[in-house]
Amino acid sequence: MATVIDGKLAAEKVIATVTQASAALEGQKGVRPGLAVVIVGDDAASHTYVAAKSRMAKQCGFNSIQHSLPGDTTQEALEALVAELNADPAIHGILVQLPLPKNLDSEGVTQLVAPEKDVDGLHVVNAGKIATGDFETGLVSCTPAGSMLLVKQALGDDLSGLNAVVIGRSNLFGKPMALLLLAANATVTMAHSRSKDLASICKNADILVAAVGRSEMVKADWVKPGATIIDVGINRIPAPEKGVGKTRLVGDVAFSECEKVAGSITPVPGGVGPMTIAMLMANTVVAASRALG
Ligand code: GUN
Repeated sequence: MATVIDGKLAAEKVIATVTQASAALEGQKGVRPGLAVVIVGDDAASHTYVAAKSRMAKQCGFNSIQHSLPGDTTQEALEALVAELNADPAIHGILVQLPLPKNLDSEGVTQLVAPEKDVDGLHVVNAGKIATGDFETGLVSCTPAGSMLLVKQALGDDLSGLNAVVIGRSNLFGKPMALLLLAANATVTMAHSRSKDLASICKNADILVAAVGRSEMVKADWVKPGATIIDVGINRIPAPEKGVGKTRLVGDVAFSECEKVAGSITPVPGGVGPMTIAMLMANTVVAASRALG
C-alpha cells in the first residue's frame, strides 16, 4: 500500500514558519504583511475557498482584507479596486479569486495586479521568471509550489532520472508545475485532454500529477508500481451512501484502487488543498519582506 502524503501536516509546518516570519517583520519594521482577497459574485465554492484564505491570513498575523463585490460589478470598477490596492502601501499581496463572472475579463484584471504583489504568480512577469529559471525574484503560483513541496518531501530535491507526467496544461497549474519539475531535473511530459492514449503515457510516470477536473479519471492500471501521485483535482460528486442529496469530494485519481499500486499518493481532501493556502501565505510574507526591504 502507498504512503499517504499528509498535506495538512506539511501545510501546518509552512504556516508555523510563515507565522514566525510575519511576527519578526512586525517586530523589526512595525508593519504586518497585508493580504487583500477580491471575490466577485456568489459562487459558493469560491466563497468557501476565499473564507479559508482570509481566515488563515488572520491566523498568520496578517492584515487580512476581503473585498466581496456583487456579481454585476463592472470591469472598470474591478480594475479601479485593483489599482487602489496596487497603490496601497499596507497591502503586499493581492489575489483576485477565479473564475470571475463571465462578463468580466479575467486575464485583463490578472495582468493589472502589480507583479510584486501578485501572490497568485499569474502575472506574465512572474510566469516568465519561472519559465526562464528565476525562482528568486518572482512569485511562484501557489498550487504548483505546494505540490512541488509534497513531491520533494516524498522523493528529495533532485528528481534526476525520474519521468514526470503532468495531466492538465492551465496557466494556473499545469504549465508552472511542469516548469518546476523540469527545474528539479525531472524528465517532463505534459498531457492534456487532446493527448492520445493517456493511460500509457501515465504508466511511464515515476511522478504523476493530475489536474484535469474529472472525478477519479486516473485508474490503477494507469499507474506505474511505486509511483508518486499528486492529485490536484477537487470534484464534488453525489454520495447517496451518506443520505439523499449528500455529496463528497474526490480528486482526479481513483484513490482506493491507485493506492494499492503507487508508492505514495496525496488524498483528497487533505493533500494539495491545504498546501495551496499555505503557499499563498508564504508568498504574502515574501512579498511583504521584499517591499519592506
Ligand atoms: N481559483 C481556484 N484556484 C485559484 C487560485 O489558486 N487562485 C485564484 N486567484 N483563483 C483560484
